[in-house]
Amino acid sequence: MYVRHLKVRNWRNFPRIDVDLQQRQFVVGPNASGKSNLMDVFRFLRDIAKVEGGGLQKAVADRGGMTKIRNLAARRDPDIAIEVRFCDPVNGRETWRYELGLKQQARGNRHTLITYERVSKDEAVILDRPNEEDREDIVRLTQTYLEQITTNRTFREIARYFQAITYHHLVPSLLRHADLTGGRTLEGDPYGQDFLDRIAREHDRSRKARLSRIEAVLKAAVPRLEQLEFIRDPETGRPHLQALYAHWRPRAGIQREDQFSDGTLRLIGMLWALLEGESLLFLEEPELCLHPGIVNRLAALIQRMQRNTGRQVLISTHSAALLSDPDIEPEEVLLLKPVHEGSEAEVAGDVTDALLLLERDVDEERAPRERTLEKDPNQLSLFE
Ligand SMILES: Nc1ncnc2c1ncn2[C@@H]1O[C@H](COP(=O)(O)OP(=O)(O)O)[C@@H](O)[C@H]1O
Ligand SMILES: [Mg+2]
Repeated sequence: MYVRHLKVRNWRNFPRIDVDLQQRQFVVGPNASGKSNLMDVFRFLRDIAKVEGGGLQKAVADRGGMTKIRNLAARRDPDIAIEVRFCDPVNGRETWRYELGLKQQARGNRHTLITYERVSKDEAVILDRPNEEDREDIVRLTQTYLEQITTNRTFREIARYFQAITYHHLVPSLLRHADLTGGRTLEGDPYGQDFLDRIAREHDRSRKARLSRIEAVLKAAVPRLEQLEFIRDPETGRPHLQALYAHWRPRAGIQREDQFSDGTLRLIGMLWALLEGESLLFLEEPELCLHPGIVNRLAALIQRMQRNTGRQVLISTHSAALLSDPDIEPEEVLLLKPVHEGSEAEVAGDVTDALLLLERDVDEERAPRERTLEKDPNQLSLFE
């Protein structure tokens, strides 16, 4: 199942969003157009549904309160509304729908209150709040049913889906210096500090299967790379990735992840993330540190990895090279356009619309960031 439709009102810099989403969805817009804010709608739902330390009040407080997440321009109709529709990828029919309305308590401790919470399955309503119990005890409206094990039983499937939403933005230096950060990793490990441990925790068989898929891609993208494997340091027991490069001196071509280029590390991290789960995945600017010769094949690569897991991916990008893949359909590109008092989100009529939107602010930004990964045009053709 995947998120087919997103509708929100008064969320951060968006007065409203009402768009269909595809299984591979690019999100394009100039700086500060709301790419991160759009992804935050889903992270917000994840934070509510989280098993440990989740919940509506915490998810709002972690964002600085309702005044921070509600659209600043919203005056007369200040409620926040979120609606997510899921569908079955095979027959395209709607499966689940989750709707949540929020407002701030007018007086007192200014808690966030639910104005409504609704769940439908196969178009039949299975939850509709406020219900009788809520009317008897208003305090109940400070908690969603989504966040409570005792109340989300009939829609556990979407609670689990939200919990498993992942954000991925591997920062090579954080991974390399994981020891220096004192073993403290951010929740959900968005920046990949814990990446090697995550690989280590995987069952042998699936780890091997995933690494061999990744190896196949790397062989095509990184010159002379012949093998990628998981090892443990014989002395410390710490997990490592090791690559074997063709080299005229035996053993001279062995490198551990701390010697990989930033581009190679980010590519490995992204591919692993694509193979790691079945819920929604966000990739933030996957083009960073990659050579354009690889960037213009990323879209195809992502799709190829999706075939294994069916994982839906939302990809924010600043890269014209990434969008230059002729197989990208216009509906796979969501444009965020700054307008008076916020941004609008709309599906592209044509992929070149996205390129025009990008031109507004990329040139000076993009050039230095799309640095070189090892390039070898002959090898790149192996992607096909
Ligand atoms: N509650 C809000 N109301 C209106 N604008 C907001 C709100 N919260 C954040 N913003 C604005 O959204 C913009 C940042 O959006 P962001 O998602 O970080 O952009 P991007 O990721 O595309 O660079 C900033 O200009 C910020 O001021
Ligand atoms: Mg951003």
